[in-house]
Amino acid sequence: MEKVQLSEGVAIDRLTFGTYRLKDPGICREAVLMALSLGCRSIDTAAIYGNEAAVGEAIAQSGVPRGEITLTTKLWTTDDGGHDRTLRAVDRQMGLLGVDYLDLMLIHHCVGDCHGSYRALEELHGQGAIRALGVSNFAPDRLVDLTLCCQVRPALLQIEVNPFYQQHHAIATARRLGVMVQAWAPLAEGKGSLFTHHALSAIGERHGRTAAQVALNWLRSRGLLMAVRATSEEHLREDLGAFGFTLTGQDLAEIEALDTGMSTYYTKPWDEVVEATLSHHLPGRGAS
Ligand SMILES: NC(=O)c1ccc[n+]([C@@H]2O[C@H](COP(=O)([O-])OP(=O)(O)OC[C@H]3O[C@@H](n4cnc5c(N)ncnc54)[C@H](OP(=O)(O)O)[C@@H]3O)[C@@H](O)[C@H]2O)c1
Repeated sequence: MEKVQLSEGVAIDRLTFGTYRLKDPGICREAVLMALSLGCRSIDTAAIYGNEAAVGEAIAQSGVPRGEITLTTKLWTTDDGGHDRTLRAVDRQMGLLGVDYLDLMLIHHCVGDCHGSYRALEELHGQGAIRALGVSNFAPDRLVDLTLCCQVRPALLQIEVNPFYQQHHAIATARRLGVMVQAWAPLAEGKGSLFTHHALSAIGERHGRTAAQVALNWLRSRGLLMAVRATSEEHLREDLGAFGFTLTGQDLAEIEALDTGMSTYYTKPWDEVVEATLSHHLPGRGAS
């Protein structure tokens, strides 16, 4: 597996194994054990996934030395935001994972007291409990704001990137700040019929590859990391085999044309998302 060097000396696999939606502990353990057995050495989880204990059990059962694994988890700021709550949350999350250090801790969303949370993470970084810090789903302006006033530069920005949502501005901004980008939902969870998409499949046919492999190879050609989830061994083997070919200029232009500029996950227009969030946090005082 190709490794990429992040700031703070943390090496991470080009393709990290993702565990979103693997809430069932048995399914999650089996999936992580399968990924480790196939050579994956980077694992991504989050407090909100509800599976940190299962991820930790799989790592312990696998026999792979902890030092070979790059383990990422994320802070759920709605519950654990702010300095003191973040310190408690990281302690709890490390307990669930059964580890005495984290390789990467990301703030999951830019909601609430992210600056307070980030200062707590910087302290833990200084104590050696977290090797590198990062953020997820921060829009370019929020990433600039955090990066310009923090002490420890975020090593990683995890955002949705796939052929249907290419995120050129966010990626360019992160690059200017020296922050590595990792794509989540790189396969759009199969939305937009990605696995049988006519353009991706046609490109794949020219290289003897699948549409999924074309999507992952394209991310690598953009210099991106990616977190991919697969519970099927066949799928994961296919994904791990996505990198041994080179897309042509014509291929890249055809993929570029697939950008909708819209998330495949957050399907509502942003004003609806803002209204729903306000209604949730300020009951009876939604936006007017
Ligand atoms: N920071 C965030 O807010 C955030 C949000 C979402 C995700 N993430 C992270 O990013 C990871 C990946 O994103 P994701 O899980 O949303 O979606 P994804 O990796 O784009 O898609 C996962 C789906 O693709 C299928 N699949 C994988 N490889 C395939 C192949 N070669 N052919 C056909 N189907 C294939 C899997 O099926 P099977 O299970 O049947 O194999 C699964 O249903 C997550 O697991 C999580 O770690 C982060």
